[in-house]
Amino acid sequence: MSMSARIDTAMGRAIAAGQGNGQAPRRLAEALGYACTPGGARIRPTILMSVAAACGEDRPALTDAAAAALELIHCASLVHDDLPCFDDAAIRRGKPSVHRAYSEPLAVLAGDSLIILAFQTLARAAAEDPARAVQIIDILGTRTGMPGGICAGQGWESEERIDLTAYHQAKTGALFIAATQMGAAAAGQDAEPWTELGARIGEAFQVADDLRDALETPESMGKPAGQDDRHARPSAVAEYGLTGAVRRLKDILSGAIASIPSCPGEAQLAQMVRAQAERLTPVFASDSARA
Ligand code: IPE
Ligand code: IPE
Ligand code: MG
Ligand code: MG
Repeated sequence: MSMSARIDTAMGRAIAAGQGNGQAPRRLAEALGYACTPGGARIRPTILMSVAAACGEDRPALTDAAAAALELIHCASLVHDDLPCFDDAAIRRGKPSVHRAYSEPLAVLAGDSLIILAFQTLARAAAEDPARAVQIIDILGTRTGMPGGICAGQGWESEERIDLTAYHQAKTGALFIAATQMGAAAAGQDAEPWTELGARIGEAFQVADDLRDALETPESMGKPAGQDDRHARPSAVAEYGLTGAVRRLKDILSGAIASIPSCPGEAQLAQMVRAQAERLTPVFASDSARA
């Protein structure tokens, strides 16, 4: 089975468990599926599975649960991020955001339910290897909540002064660190050496997202453009300018490849990081020349 088919299967199974068998509130059950399918790029579970494979994966069911749990948290974070009290975004992944399609109360509840479902998905796979599962749950909790997870990242937006690095690390970097660490932990390897790779990919990803926010259109992204400017959010573009942000993106990505820990599947993993890097950079090459 391809990696993307594995991710879709694991997500489908987890969501179906959350929706119940017809006894649960119908619209909320539907909103859970709407928030997660069809997905976006599924980059976090792809990284997680690639790291697990590179580490010599031996508990594929645990990897699948970890990948689904991580993507469920990501989807939940987008549902909440789009709410009027955060970014007030009308579209996500090319369709109405969850609160626009289902109402604000259902979007709050869908996000909450997906977060809980993520941890339940891991608990239910724990019999595969309880020690590894506990470690994975701890990593996901650390990178989701306070003091340094995505809750902290969103919390920075309510402070008077925002430190761009801390904001980006918590808002976006955290789930990429979770991806590399959870992949290693699912394969029974020490998670710590994988922190830097996740942090670097996450930082590059956020710089690329800031560039897209400034340069692309809602049609090409499937979500509103110009949001950072509109909400006066600190961004890599505001901090370094277009040319500086593109240069920074390239620097971070070359550092990411250099930071891959030695492991059996190192060469293949470097290939995956290079492919993701190419996906993130070419759109901006001509703009940086113009800028
Ligand atoms: C969007 O993440 C939120 C950011 C952290 C910038 P993605 O670009 O990974 O969203 P999807 O899942 O592909 O839609
Ligand atoms: C979203 O960040 C990050 C989280 C949901 C934690 P943004 O608000 O910058 O991302 P988009 O542009 O809405 O995808
Ligand atoms: Mg936001
Ligand atoms: Mg947003």
